[in-house]
Amino acid sequence: MVPRYVNIIVPFWSDFLFYKGDIMNELLEIQKVALEKIADCANLKDLNDLRVNYLGKKGPIQDAMKAMKNMEKAERAEFGKVSNQVKQAIQKAIDDKKVELEEKAVEEKLASETIDVTLPSFTVPQGTMHPLYIIQEEIEDLFMGMGYEVAEGPEVETDHYNFELLNLPKGHPARDAQDTFYIDDSLLLRSQTSPVQAHVMQAHEGKGPIKIICPGKTYRRDDDDATHSHQFKQCEGLVVDKNITLADLKGTLEVFAKRMFGEKREVRLRQSYFPFTEPSVEYDISCHVCGGKGCNICKGTGWIEIGGAGMVNPKVLDMCGFDSKEYTGFAFGLGIERVAMLKYGIDNIRYFYNDDLKFLKQFDRKD
Ligand code: FA5
Repeated sequence: MVPRYVNIIVPFWSDFLFYKGDIMNELLEIQKVALEKIADCANLKDLNDLRVNYLGKKGPIQDAMKAMKNMEKAERAEFGKVSNQVKQAIQKAIDDKKVELEEKAVEEKLASETIDVTLPSFTVPQGTMHPLYIIQEEIEDLFMGMGYEVAEGPEVETDHYNFELLNLPKGHPARDAQDTFYIDDSLLLRSQTSPVQAHVMQAHEGKGPIKIICPGKTYRRDDDDATHSHQFKQCEGLVVDKNITLADLKGTLEVFAKRMFGEKREVRLRQSYFPFTEPSVEYDISCHVCGGKGCNICKGTGWIEIGGAGMVNPKVLDMCGFDSKEYTGFAFGLGIERVAMLKYGIDNIRYFYNDDLKFLKQFDRKD
């Protein structure tokens, strides 16, 4: 195979070679052999060796150039010009071959790494939503659909917000039912989500309306059993505006009960006591398992207790910066574990906190 570079050089040389003798022929021979070797070269390493051999300081061209010192000035100039052209031809051949070999290497690599996209993929194990968060999200969606905002507050709370602003001054007997974990005399782990009410009311600086729910973790010094845990979750609701009545509270709880447990559910309010609401109620829903006839879930009563509620105590409104002559409000609180246990038929609250994958996997909503 005659490399194409020979054709570039030979016409230029032809006259000159005719009378410049062996040394010029030697240059031409060097170029011819070099171009052939470059054309036949199969990999980048060999190509680099050729570059070093031919264009390096100890290469044959440099060797041939030693003869220059014995040449006439004009002859030397002509010889230098030709030897440069030989070097350039070899360099260009090497550069072109390098590009060719690199492209070939990339093509070979791509061919060897071809991926069969029809092969089945690995299954990547994924976590699942915790059932308490599934219920919390459902509650949030439900109330946001009714125009509520979701508010959050600190889990490490002051005695002032957890109790005093909620009309539970120091020594109040109702504090006993909500004994909690104290960090010092005035700092504690909140025993209910109700302190978020006080934060939000203060932030509103006496101007309604307020329409919020506050889901979050709560803590109490309760002994753990099938229905109680020292750490659990509550969701608070608060509406403050002009002319809010107990009927608004009942209507709201009915929407919650029907969306959460089925359209046939009814709500019953029973008289109760919370220092921060006046009047106060416990609210029950008709049993979603037996439909109100009586079963072991509702302990034969046909009703299931969900949480506490009431009209915001005017004292609390005043303490939190609202004029209780102008504004009224309702509030409610529910245990998220309780709702989840009823909805999923779970008979022990400990399942939520034991990290048992067999239990948690059942709530994989992708299955
Ligand atoms: C309260 O905590 C009031 N803050 C609720 C409230 C809000 C009333 C606004 C009026 C106005 P109570 O102590 O009943 O109320 O708790 C509410 C719910 O939290 C209970 O119905 C129960 O579902 C849940 N709960 C209470 N203690 C525990 C516990 N140790 N473990 C699991 N859930 C609990």
